[in-house]
Amino acid sequence: MRVTQLGVLVSGRGSNLRAIAEGIEAGTVPARIAVVVGNKHNVPAMEYAGRHGLKTVFLDPKSVTSSTDPRRAYDRKLLRVLNEHRVELVILAGYMRIVSSALIEAYASRMMNIHPSLLPSFPGLDAQQQALDHGAKISGCTVHFVTEGVDEGPIILQQAVPVHEGDTAETLSERILNEEHQLLPQAIRLFAEGRLRVTGRTVRIDGEGA
Ligand code: GRF
Repeated sequence: MRVTQLGVLVSGRGSNLRAIAEGIEAGTVPARIAVVVGNKHNVPAMEYAGRHGLKTVFLDPKSVTSSTDPRRAYDRKLLRVLNEHRVELVILAGYMRIVSSALIEAYASRMMNIHPSLLPSFPGLDAQQQALDHGAKISGCTVHFVTEGVDEGPIILQQAVPVHEGDTAETLSERILNEEHQLLPQAIRLFAEGRLRVTGRTVRIDGEGA
């Protein structure tokens, strides 16, 4: 079977990267991690990738500060790395950097992000704390295609997670994270199987629903 070449962008802990790698290993995700790119050195995600024999590239944001538009210049470099590794689908897996149009246009409907809330509620940073502060009874996680607006792109999959009384940002994050680890590999599998159809804001999944 044909496998989809993935480029996974990371900045920190890397538990979603691990969930993807485990899904591939278990044979449930027909994909291959062609390259893991990090904007931070020596973070657990990059260490995990190194330990598991995955190709890693550290792109230092400081290396492009001389440009007039450092964000675009950085993403052009990133794009070169993704092209070199023939990446077909880009996954933002805890990637803590806003991506510019240079990357978004090149990977339109081929770049996914995972966010720890039921979008469009609680976009941006500290989504779990936002849900608690708002008194939400249900939160969750969302996998969406990446567009220019932060956490705004067409929604691929969502999973609801209850908020319990006495939850802290940590306990809620952990409950949501368990679901993220199911949802992201599932979305990658649907993409790899060619089952995602994007029309405007809507993503239809072939073979589901009417
Ligand atoms: C996850 O909660 C994800 O939803 C958010 O950043 C966190 C990354 O965790 N975008 P990890 O690095 O994959 O462990």
